[in-house]
Amino acid sequence: MNPWTLNHPRLQPGCRGAWARMAPAISVVLALLLGGPPLLAQGGSGSPMGLLLTWQQDPLTTMTIDWHTGATSTPQEVRYRRVGASDWNAGPTPEEFPFPHVEDARIHRVELVGLEPGSLYEFNLSEGGRNYRFRTMPQDLQRPVRFASGGDVRHEREMMERMNRVVTPYDPDFILWAGDLAYADGLPERAYRWVDFLDVMMRTLITAEGRVIPVLAAPGNHEVRGGYYRNSDAWEPGPEWQREFAPFYYALFAFPGHPGYGVLDFADYLSIVLLDTDHTGPMAGDQTEWLRTTLRDRTHVPHVFPTYHVPAYPSVRSPDGGVSTQVRETWSPLFEAFGVRVAFEAHDHAFKRTHPIRAGAVHPAGVVYMGDGAWGVRNRIIGASHSEPAWYIDRALTDRHFSLVTLHGPHLHILTVNEDGRVIDEFPEAPTMPR
Ligand SMILES: [Fe+2]
Repeated sequence: MNPWTLNHPRLQPGCRGAWARMAPAISVVLALLLGGPPLLAQGGSGSPMGLLLTWQQDPLTTMTIDWHTGATSTPQEVRYRRVGASDWNAGPTPEEFPFPHVEDARIHRVELVGLEPGSLYEFNLSEGGRNYRFRTMPQDLQRPVRFASGGDVRHEREMMERMNRVVTPYDPDFILWAGDLAYADGLPERAYRWVDFLDVMMRTLITAEGRVIPVLAAPGNHEVRGGYYRNSDAWEPGPEWQREFAPFYYALFAFPGHPGYGVLDFADYLSIVLLDTDHTGPMAGDQTEWLRTTLRDRTHVPHVFPTYHVPAYPSVRSPDGGVSTQVRETWSPLFEAFGVRVAFEAHDHAFKRTHPIRAGAVHPAGVVYMGDGAWGVRNRIIGASHSEPAWYIDRALTDRHFSLVTLHGPHLHILTVNEDGRVIDEFPEAPTMPR
């Protein structure tokens, strides 16, 4: 039985027996519809359909490994060792969950703990299977740490693939996505978009040496049926609603998990704060109070990056939008009070970097807002809803891009690169660190 019996709109439930017999041919048709190679071309013995690395706890000493298979695949477990070591270690027994809305498919998850910081490991899922690699994060910033930041990842397979192929050679330690990932809108009939998304990751976010690049992702409106929690009469806090209305996001990303926001601390040099701009739960109340405490407790950390989907200072849409206004009124004062230098935003499908902003005005000690979510989506025109250029924009371009963030000691440097590999922005403009 093929593991990826998709609940695709063109595949009626009564056709599942036929699907098994016709799978190869249908796969080719699906591939054409999806604009990529046949899904069934992968997944032979011991080879997963998807592989997603992330962290749930300390990135110096742990790694969470997810892989995706069919229900009938051979039981697998993770074996791992430091590169250069002779003996393999057995990982813990994997947890197993259904892959939402994909018949027979499963998500397997292990969290490796007790690893050495700043080290390169290799792992596989079965004896004789392919060896992949991962690396743990260093104890400090004596070596530069790099991550690729962006959002709005996959309108079309080709767009995502093209950007990934520009990103991977930069060898980022991890990828940070600020929401709107596969554009499945939490809908069962769009599960195939996630299957394809994971397939693209397998093909393009593994480095030439076999290192799988970990991913952290915040929720966006396209992770949720209806886009925003308040559009659902059935909304209530907790996993039950999330499983129904944002099934893929919560099943596929171990971090932050429930309630949809969280902080990941890299020793005392970096904290990534993932936030939810009203998609799976409200900004106001618990989340904002949690943010206040989280930022207040990290004023000693030199690099703290709030990351969320709807921008405080949009490049395309009007800044008068309700969520944008709420971010500026409730979260920006916290960013300013507790020393945030840069916040990452998305949603508008263009590139923007704002002036530093404090108390609603340009200020040299203000917060720079970077975005605006154009990793692999059709661009929108800058300022489409502004009669004149917005006062807060320092630089904006209608271009697909990612931003490569480099941290070295106290220094921060952000290079933004478009899908052709061309540098379109550098911040700060006069870099203060060797590159
Ligand atoms: Fe969005």
